Amino acid sequence: MATTLVTYFSATGTTKRVAERLAKAIGADLVEIEPAEPYTAADLNWRDDASRSTREHRDRSIRPALKTPIDVSGYDTIFVGYPLWWETAPRVVRTFLESQDFTGKAIVTFATSSTSVRGADGTQLHDSAPSADWKPGKRVASNESEASLAAWVTSLGL
Ligand SMILES: Cc1cc2nc3c(=O)[nH]c(=O)nc-3n(C[C@H](O)[C@H](O)[C@H](O)COP(=O)(O)O)c2cc1C
Repeated sequence: MATTLVTYFSATGTTKRVAERLAKAIGADLVEIEPAEPYTAADLNWRDDASRSTREHRDRSIRPALKTPIDVSGYDTIFVGYPLWWETAPRVVRTFLESQDFTGKAIVTFATSSTSVRGADGTQLHDSAPSADWKPGKRVASNESEASLAAWVTSLGL
């Protein structure tokens, strides 16, 4: 495979563990999409109408700042992992996608969730990187094995 980068945002470690396994399975580099301001437990309370995550979900234009810029220029394929929040990607994922030029590069999403699948394939994010060659992403189980992740990547025919 050509040069591949696995990026991920993870608020509570689930997506991080899958991303680490994926990077190992396919021999890719690994970089975290880190918000400048980390999410506290209170921020993540989806039952609180005033919590940070709820407010960010309600306002589609919010773009939480990144702690450190991520440079994708040296890669042909970029995997983007995130937890599903209300069946879509957290806004900070869009901050990352909109910060780089993905022309000529493939993007593949993967997402963890309690049960939801909708939002994992990445379709909703295409407008944040319209020039990318988007491949269908998928919902991954928190305990998805290295072998299963490697088989999935092979099936993408990158
Ligand atoms: C604000 C918020 C919204 C969520 N919305 C959903 C959802 O719509 N469907 C679902 O199955 N899980 C939902 N979850 C659960 C997370 O997707 C799940 O716990 C995920 O694996 C967490 O990943 P992380 O540990 O990498 O942050 C939500 C969690 C949070 C904090």
